[in-house]
Amino acid sequence: MLDIYKLGDSVLREKCEKITVFDNSLRLLEEAMYETMAEADGVGLAGPQVGVTKRIFVIEIPSEGIKKTFINPEIIETSVDTVTAPEGCLSLPGLEHEVTRNSSVTVYAQDVNGKAFTLKADGLFARAIQHENDHLNGVLYIDHLDESEKQHMEALYAKKQKARRKAARRG
Ligand code: NI
Repeated sequence: MLDIYKLGDSVLREKCEKITVFDNSLRLLEEAMYETMAEADGVGLAGPQVGVTKRIFVIEIPSEGIKKTFINPEIIETSVDTVTAPEGCLSLPGLEHEVTRNSSVTVYAQDVNGKAFTLKADGLFARAIQHENDHLNGVLYIDHLDESEKQHMEALYAKKQKARRKAARRG
């Protein structure tokens, strides 16, 4: 299991590097990311969230039969229409906020063996792709909110962290 980095960790703000070597260590990373994500009950996880500043993310939405790894992804087309829905992130546990995203996206990426593919996604899958792709550029979903909402979320998160530390000391 990998540690998940949280809001305030500088690794979440780095622009990730392209992956050029498709070897066994990449497959091990992929596997560990799926396990870590499942354990944390998330639908998406990106490299920097586990301290790896490389262009990889994984998405798993069991209810829709989706399990997909994206390496060096590029969103090449987005729908004109948008959809606003609640969104969360394993790097800001316990918080959610509505975020407006394109309702569908077409993405070009490579799989863990370096094989290129293109796919079009909509619904939760499209939202997850946009969210995870942001992580590769050091962007978090709260960055899409207006400044006062963002500050409110950061304050809520800090409060939660404080309560968590206090509980840990008691426990
Ligand atoms: Ni996230």
